[in-house]
Amino acid sequence: MAGNHAETVLNEVRKTLADVQESGRPKHIAIIMDGNGRWAKQRGKLRVFGHENGVEAVRKTVENCARLKIDYLTLYAFSTENWNRPKLEVETLMRLLVASLRRELKTLTENNIKLNAIGRIDSLPDRVHKELKEVIEKTSSHTGTTLTLALSYGSREELKTAVKTLCSKVKNNLISPDHIDETIINNHLYTHDLPDVDLLIRTSGEHRISNFLLWQIAYAELYFVDAFWPDFQEHHLVEAIMNYQNRERRFGKTSEQLDSADRTIPLSE
Ligand code: IPE
Ligand code: IPE
Ligand code: MG
Repeated sequence: MAGNHAETVLNEVRKTLADVQESGRPKHIAIIMDGNGRWAKQRGKLRVFGHENGVEAVRKTVENCARLKIDYLTLYAFSTENWNRPKLEVETLMRLLVASLRRELKTLTENNIKLNAIGRIDSLPDRVHKELKEVIEKTSSHTGTTLTLALSYGSREELKTAVKTLCSKVKNNLISPDHIDETIINNHLYTHDLPDVDLLIRTSGEHRISNFLLWQIAYAELYFVDAFWPDFQEHHLVEAIMNYQNRERRFGKTSEQLDSADRTIPLSE
């Protein structure tokens, strides 16, 4: 009885999409969707049960971000390190990915969402690769939220590949080392056509980055949620965004500089 009352009160204070103010919304949200295994374990089930239930949280989150007109949503779905998990778990994750891509093409189309992928896409099984390519092509003309799936993604691997490509360009005299700047490095990452991450969310109570977008989160605001990924709901997303909107992003400057009319004074002056 007391529990039910507490839940009712909680529901009343829970925020919905309508509570999010338009100004100052993050342009790019990235999410480390963690905790599927523990969610299943709590229920006495196998880890794959958690992954199966995580799919619904993905669908809802993608739809909610589209409704909130978030320009870019990037989801960490499978890391380079996740290949080291038991074979059955990896196979289940790949199977779920193919099934979701097939099923959710309609959702992506209805919500004007454009699909994109980052990571060692060529290392994915053929059927995943094929399905992914197909949905990316079919949604390429959409102009709403860009949904990027990080698959077989590792930030160090991404940086290593970029360094190798740049070295070979230098060796072939296509570029001079003197000309290598942050823009050029950025252009050689999987994320070259995405803006920097504004808000990074991780579920499951873990406070680490796990090799995700190391370069791209240089100035992201970090937000951690205790809920396991299958329990991640609209109010969690809304609370993360509202929390972000209340933060002051200083990018190395002082508060006073941000308050002053001229925010463009170089630090050296
Ligand atoms: C996240 O949940 C999904 C993937 C990494 C693919 P986990 O499978 O890592 O779940 P926990 O962290 O073990 O609970
Ligand atoms: C990060 O979660 C990868 C994904 C969410 C896809 P992990 O569960 O693999 O990370 P660690 O092992 O806890 O750092
Ligand atoms: Mg995990």
